[in-house]
Amino acid sequence: MRGRQVAQRANFVGIFGHTTIDRIMEVPKFPEPNTSIEVRGQRTYRGGTGANIAFLMARMGGTPALASFVGEDFPKDYEDALRSAGVDVTDLVRCEKYSTPTCMIVTDPDERQVAYIDQGPMRDAERFEVLAHSVDTSKLVHFGTGRPEYYSKVAAYATKRGKKIALDPSQEIHYVYDKRSFAQMLEMADIMFANGAELATALEYIGGKSPRALLDHVDVLVVTRGKRGSELYVRDSFDAVPAMPPRRMVDPTGAGDSYRAGFYAAWERGRELTECALAGSAAASFVIESEGAQTNPPTWDAVLERLRKNGCAID
Ligand SMILES: Nc1ncnc2c1ncn2[C@@H]1O[C@H](COP(=O)(O)OP(=O)(O)OP(=O)(O)O)[C@@H](O)[C@H]1O
Ligand SMILES: [Mg+2]
Repeated sequence: MRGRQVAQRANFVGIFGHTTIDRIMEVPKFPEPNTSIEVRGQRTYRGGTGANIAFLMARMGGTPALASFVGEDFPKDYEDALRSAGVDVTDLVRCEKYSTPTCMIVTDPDERQVAYIDQGPMRDAERFEVLAHSVDTSKLVHFGTGRPEYYSKVAAYATKRGKKIALDPSQEIHYVYDKRSFAQMLEMADIMFANGAELATALEYIGGKSPRALLDHVDVLVVTRGKRGSELYVRDSFDAVPAMPPRRMVDPTGAGDSYRAGFYAAWERGRELTECALAGSAAASFVIESEGAQTNPPTWDAVLERLRKNGCAID
């Protein structure tokens, strides 16, 4: 026991999800088995749905806590970048004998891709303790990519403490979740995020026909539709929110994560849900202007300005 209680920082949202290293390699063609090929170039980016949302939200002035398992090799400069952006990294846990989750994406000149994903400790999350700090210090707990077996334990802990829960399995809804694990998480959720394809899988799991079927389970449903914008479903209302044009379109990676980051940054500022969705659109429009999800983070002022310029001012 420490003799003196250190005041704990209050966070708006505890974000559970991946923190990854993304390596993109270009090859002239994909090699046949038992052959080698020279790489033409490779670039490495900081990524992971959890870290992306937390980093971008913090850069917009929000207070996220990141709850994520990485390996003992996790680069110190990545942790420093998260911390200095303003992310509470207390629950960014280095796990012994594991390597950091890594996504190796190999692309050929036709822009076809092959990806190798090393989940590192995220795959075995169920073995690890509930990262309680991110729940205890936050009003809302966000469950992004990661194992539902682990997240259902954390969500039960969060529910008992009266926290709001956001469910956002992202692409993993298709191959990590199934009907049962999705139903279990949905039962505890208050808000859900999905893109169009993820929404279709969610509806299949619950046997629903229209997006509104999810409102039997959550109070708010946010559906993103790429450059067509996003949709906000709340009990008695529906709102279609436009996407904001980027200055140039370079790489869509991280559009979804930055949308959530902008959404939460606005929510923490007490904005209405429609304004949160607009802030999400604006945040995403910056992130797709450069390669990687954490390379072009907007400030809150930049978000406001882009909305203003496009006739959607929220200030
Ligand atoms: N080409 C684009 N132009 C402008 N805004 C975009 C574009 N693509 C995405 N966005 C913004 O980002 C939001 C999220 O994008 P999208 O629906 O593609 O998410 P996603 O499929 O989860 O993407 P990813 O998982 O690859 O990040 C959209 O609602 C929109 O506001
Ligand atoms: Mg996504």
